[in-house]
Amino acid sequence: MSHNQQLQKIMAYNLLKGKKGIIFGALDANSIAWKTAERVHEEGGTFVLTNAPIAMRMGQINELAGKTISEIIPADATNEEDLKNLVEKSMEILGGKLDFVLHSIGMSVNVRKGRHYTDENYSFTEKGWDVSALSFHKVMQSLYKAEAMNQWGSIVALTYMAAQRTFPDYNDMADNKAYLESVARSFGYFFGKEHKVRVNTISQSPTPTTAGQGVKGFDGFINYAEKMSPLGNATADDCANYTVSLFSDLTKKVTMQNLFHDGGFSNTGVSQEVIDEFSE
Ligand code: NAI
Repeated sequence: MSHNQQLQKIMAYNLLKGKKGIIFGALDANSIAWKTAERVHEEGGTFVLTNAPIAMRMGQINELAGKTISEIIPADATNEEDLKNLVEKSMEILGGKLDFVLHSIGMSVNVRKGRHYTDENYSFTEKGWDVSALSFHKVMQSLYKAEAMNQWGSIVALTYMAAQRTFPDYNDMADNKAYLESVARSFGYFFGKEHKVRVNTISQSPTPTTAGQGVKGFDGFINYAEKMSPLGNATADDCANYTVSLFSDLTKKVTMQNLFHDGGFSNTGVSQEVIDEFSE
């Protein structure tokens, strides 16, 4: 056993023992959802993995399913029928209602096709919004209508600080993230009142994944964020750990929050390293 594996072993606390859930968005080993699935498994949680049918053909999700002893149900997160089927089948497979759901989904067609923010193609904009933002509402509405969540369950989606502050190359994803964060608050109210379920978004550091690297100038940007963050950028593994804490019973009263998980970036005006870059 390597040193890292030993550390990981020591770091398993059984925080999610007996808990069941659904994890959206594991495309490959870099995906935040992939790392989260591995950590949830280590903490004793069981889950169904899901992704868009097309992503599965490209992705390596079978490998993850094998490792974490989980089943895969394809679902396009913009398709209500797919989501209904996913929620029903997941409860059958897992043998009961769910305790946690991770929404780790994002895609901008304008970004992909190189359309500038001042030159959006609005059918691209609508598609990207549906996939990246409205899908979170669709996922929660499907869970809500099926009464699929156990009391004190936890729903998490991933977001980025471009929802609050402008990052020119983040394009229409900034607007999608603002919408996503709003949906977390709005649905969080009803899920809390009716089912004692919490809903939060994690605002994560730039992370080298397929979605992350799609953003123009990502390399410069991730280095800048690293230099600006007193603790350095949060990695995908760090994000997985944070999500485990939000799925656990240790955060029962945290809801309707946008939680910055960024090594301190969001509250740093400037760092010494960045000043040094500009000093002669
Ligand atoms: P990723 O590319 O590994 O994951 C994105 C996932 O969205 C993929 O698995 C993809 O198949 C899935 N997806 C796309 N369309 C879908 C659809 N119609 N139905 C179901 N799934 C669909 O990249 P990453 O970075 O792990 O992204 C996960 C989340 O983290 C996204 O919400 C992203 O915006 C967010 N995030 C990422 C950051 C980064 O720098 N990588 C920073 C902050 C937030």
